[in-house]
Amino acid sequence: MNKYALGIDLGTSSVKVSAVNPDGKIIAQESFSYDLKQPHPGYAEQNPDDWVYGTTSAIVKLILNDNIQPDEIEGISFSGQMHGLVLLDEAGKVLRPAILWNDTRTTKQCKEIMDAMGKRFIDITHNVPLEGFTLPKLLWVKENEPEIFSKAKTMLLPKDYLRYKMTGILAMDYSDATGTVMLDIEKNTWSKEILDKFEIPISLCPKLVKSIDFTGNITPSYAEFSGLTTTTKTFAGGADNACGAVGAGIDSSNKVLSSIGTSGVVLKFEDSSSTNYDGVLQFEEHAVPDAYYSMGVTLAAGFSLSWFKKTFANDEDFTDFVNSATQSTIGANGLMFSPYIVGERAPYADANIRGSFVGIDGIHQKPDFVRAVLEGITFSFEDIMEIYRKNGAKFDTVVSIGGGAKSEVWQQIQADIFNTKVVSLKNEQGPGMGAAMLAAVGLGWFKDIHECTDKFVEYKNVFVPNPENVKKYQQLHGIYAKIYEQTKEISHELIDFRKEQI
Ligand code: XUL
Repeated sequence: MNKYALGIDLGTSSVKVSAVNPDGKIIAQESFSYDLKQPHPGYAEQNPDDWVYGTTSAIVKLILNDNIQPDEIEGISFSGQMHGLVLLDEAGKVLRPAILWNDTRTTKQCKEIMDAMGKRFIDITHNVPLEGFTLPKLLWVKENEPEIFSKAKTMLLPKDYLRYKMTGILAMDYSDATGTVMLDIEKNTWSKEILDKFEIPISLCPKLVKSIDFTGNITPSYAEFSGLTTTTKTFAGGADNACGAVGAGIDSSNKVLSSIGTSGVVLKFEDSSSTNYDGVLQFEEHAVPDAYYSMGVTLAAGFSLSWFKKTFANDEDFTDFVNSATQSTIGANGLMFSPYIVGERAPYADANIRGSFVGIDGIHQKPDFVRAVLEGITFSFEDIMEIYRKNGAKFDTVVSIGGGAKSEVWQQIQADIFNTKVVSLKNEQGPGMGAAMLAAVGLGWFKDIHECTDKFVEYKNVFVPNPENVKKYQQLHGIYAKIYEQTKEISHELIDFRKEQI
């Protein structure tokens, strides 16, 4: 009989469910899209039951369209969009739409947290409170919707609500719980100090579990609803960034992930909870038990490139457009780009910084601009790598996923700027694969995540740094690193000017 683990990737625009066999092959995959509601500028909400209906629809399609037999699905695990606040009442009913990670209504609450606790907050959580995180959202509800807050009996994150509807069991895994910034990361418990300070009852916080922990079988009612059987087991799962890292084989401290989507993420496996980047980087528990990861986000990574193409080369074929960078030189003939076109998160948390081309010369051609954009995005990743090196981290492999892994020229630029070997994945599948791996380990198909990684994750296309290019890029990164400070004031003034015009 065939056997499968389902990896559920609960994203912001859709849910994707993958059926994976013990060889690590995706046998079938189905998805379902849902709406993002933005009732006011800066708001981003979703109806938690849309996640349940969307996931169920994808599971039904796996059974009916793809011929996956329900009793072949041995286990299910979850990768979830992070930070979203779901509040339940005493009867387990949703009290208000979920407030998502990309909702920015909480600037006031973030300031209140820092005013009340300052550095102590960073010492406990190893993070600064950002608008996206869960605690500021909870404080927003407390301040603005006290009648809802008073009825709230449980706080969950998106994938935990989905799992609760499948199993009837309330739980939250450590990797997602760190994103609430209510966890004492070194003690590995909910922080009583933070909860007391903001008068949040600890009873709101669910039981903490590891990502590979068993979290109950499918209930008879969900089995009837979805076509699954009650013999299928669920396992806790993790935050999407943690699951993405598991799926990319980031299971030891010699590996760093370089992920280029609309935004970009540099993510590093961390052995110890005592590492603290003072909130300049996010610090989270990993889905790999007893491990951690840190990450820095470049808000406009792939977006900088797609913006440039759409604006200046809309009709060109994408691959030709990217490859035209080879007609330029290392350092784009003296042209430099900073990718701050929607503000930045790391290492400069500044919503009002904006991007720039510096050094435009009459000799420059379009390939120079394309190359400058690719290099600028990669320099902003190098800013994070530099923080790691200054902290004494030793890593010898960068795993490139997303846009950066689709282009040989960009992979070589990464290897040369990071001065580190860059590899890509043979079969890149994203966080859903990481979730399936957590189920595979939970089911006992593998003794641990490392053994599963050896079987499921294969690398290809090794790009090694070219020493001559490395030297030039080190000099160029030194120049790039000055752009933020030297354009900050001008950017802020221009933003103010624009606001005055509205
Ligand atoms: C991480 C973050 C996003 C979401 C996307 O802090 O806000 O990456 O996890 O789902």
